[in-house]
Amino acid sequence: MRHLITLTDVTTTEIETIFAISQDLKTKLAEGVREPLLPGRMMALLFEKPSLRTRVSFESGMTHLGGGSLVLGDDAGFGKRESIADFTRVLSEMVDVIVVRSKKHQTVVDVAQYASCAVINGLTDLAHPCQALADLYTLKEHFGELKGLKFAWVGDGNNVARSLARGCAKLGVEFAIATPKGYELDDELFAELKQTCPGAKFSATHDAKTAVKGAAAIYTDVWASMGQEAEQNQRKADFAAYQVNGDLMRAAPKDAVFMHCLPARRGEEVTDEVMDSHQSIVVPQAGNRMHVQKGILVWLLGRA
Ligand code: CP
Ligand code: NVA
Repeated sequence: MRHLITLTDVTTTEIETIFAISQDLKTKLAEGVREPLLPGRMMALLFEKPSLRTRVSFESGMTHLGGGSLVLGDDAGFGKRESIADFTRVLSEMVDVIVVRSKKHQTVVDVAQYASCAVINGLTDLAHPCQALADLYTLKEHFGELKGLKFAWVGDGNNVARSLARGCAKLGVEFAIATPKGYELDDELFAELKQTCPGAKFSATHDAKTAVKGAAAIYTDVWASMGQEAEQNQRKADFAAYQVNGDLMRAAPKDAVFMHCLPARRGEEVTDEVMDSHQSIVVPQAGNRMHVQKGILVWLLGRA
């Protein structure tokens, strides 16, 4: 049984396959064709944290493919009424795929361990693989080719940054990250990527302008992720020099794009000026969540 828990679960070739399926389905949808590649397949979604994009993109995508979906709310009692093992074993008797957004990464790992169906990580504290795949697909769509591009992350070394670092390493994109001191991605991740993706290029700095120099994409995310609300004020102070604003965008090439996984806190990590600029591709980027997750679902379930 294959799962998508982090991007270590997919090879470069498999990512390219997912992108090709996504592209095909996106083109067909634009022509009004919704190919039912997964008729009768059922997807259950579990959310321990809020979601707009992940929930709707998975639900709409599965409907386009001829399958069904079920968001399990609090009343299902995930993690409360019975053990995660019992819950998962029973659920996977009845559905073909489970999407989980959990507070702790270990929860998704546990679900995958007990499930007899496919499991997809819909965001944890450590990873957001579906987001990273959609982001890299969006970059490819915009620039035509990924290899040789430089990608700049400005802000927190968080779950999304971690998945993007891995995705960039797998697809030949140089990954540059600028964070305040104390918010870096861990050295173990870079050491592992060096080993598993020989030739991968990455750099880490505390200077935002250094990271965006020569970059094709400037990416940021909220300074306090879901679950870190208590640190909001401290982080606002620590990240003040890492706002993506007009001044920072001018330090990047003119044809660079601005990306954000959303939701954004306008006026904090990014200004209105940048969010609403001609360089911003945040809306089609969010839209691609659905197209790429359709690719992931077909890749995971279609070959059974
Ligand atoms: N980017 C993202 O995952 O958005 P949601 O939290 O709305 O799902
Ligand atoms: N880093 C953010 C991403 C939201 C999609 C969070 O975890 O809240």
